[in-house]
Amino acid sequence: MEENVFVVYDRNVEDLALTLAPGRPAYPITADEDHKTIDSVMDICRWLLSQGADRNALVYAVGGGVTTDLVGFAASIYKRGVRYVNYPTTLLCQVDAGLGGKTGCNLDSYKNMIGVIAFPEQTRILPQALRTLPERELRSGAAEMLKSFIIEDLGGYYEKAVALLSAPEMDFDALGELVLAASEVKRRVVEKDPYEKNIRRYLNLGHTYAHAIEWYQHTHPTACPMTHGEAVSVGMVCAARLSEALGVCEKGLAAKIEADLKACRLPVELPCPESELEAALWKDKKAESGKIHFVLIEKIGKVTIKDLDDLHQYSE
Ligand code: GLY
Repeated sequence: MEENVFVVYDRNVEDLALTLAPGRPAYPITADEDHKTIDSVMDICRWLLSQGADRNALVYAVGGGVTTDLVGFAASIYKRGVRYVNYPTTLLCQVDAGLGGKTGCNLDSYKNMIGVIAFPEQTRILPQALRTLPERELRSGAAEMLKSFIIEDLGGYYEKAVALLSAPEMDFDALGELVLAASEVKRRVVEKDPYEKNIRRYLNLGHTYAHAIEWYQHTHPTACPMTHGEAVSVGMVCAARLSEALGVCEKGLAAKIEADLKACRLPVELPCPESELEAALWKDKKAESGKIHFVLIEKIGKVTIKDLDDLHQYSE
């Protein structure tokens, strides 16, 4: 272990975090959406300064996506940028958020509105962390994992993942293999297009509707809002239906994907009438010049992007 390591961790995973760099300074944070703010980023920077972190510092980010986003952002601006390593402890972070260098925080109620792309020196996956993850969080991450295999399915991992996730008991060893395969999908996509000029947008499969659902739920608070992964699950079904309506894929694919996600115990229904999502769909930050870069599915393992300017005309 390097001498100049500084550990910033989600206080929910303290026991694990404190084993990673014993004896080194460690700082717990509250890692939820309400604390995903510029103030939290500044607090991390202040703490690094108080601990004498210099430009050679190496910051460990231990936790889920909120933690790696906040710590990555703080590390990328502290003293104009120091190195950081992600230790993702949730499935969602292991297959998506902890990879690819997107860092940042919310701006008022706008999610991930401030940030930079700053690549971690490494992402070190901790498979043991998944064994204690609450079931709902595990399923939420599973949606992003399935998303990766819909984008690219070189090893037939999509069907393996559906089989694993529909089984009554989780086989964590098999899950570990799928996590590595999904993280490789993301690595390959990001390597080709790190700054999201073209094919990195594939990783937004399901996210146009997911962000609209999240915005709708933010403005219409419910007792039990969908998690991000759950919203992505519904969003992938919407994307599959739209792909069929546009003739991008064969008939039946949307029904298959819907049935698979349901079998994986993920939601597939919009939480409100589609018309209610209209405004939110267009305010999504991915809508540029009046168009949405919509990720459509050609078949399992192949997606494409179409710039759509009116979703109504395509709905069945
Ligand atoms: N979560 C999508 C991306 O990293 O590009």
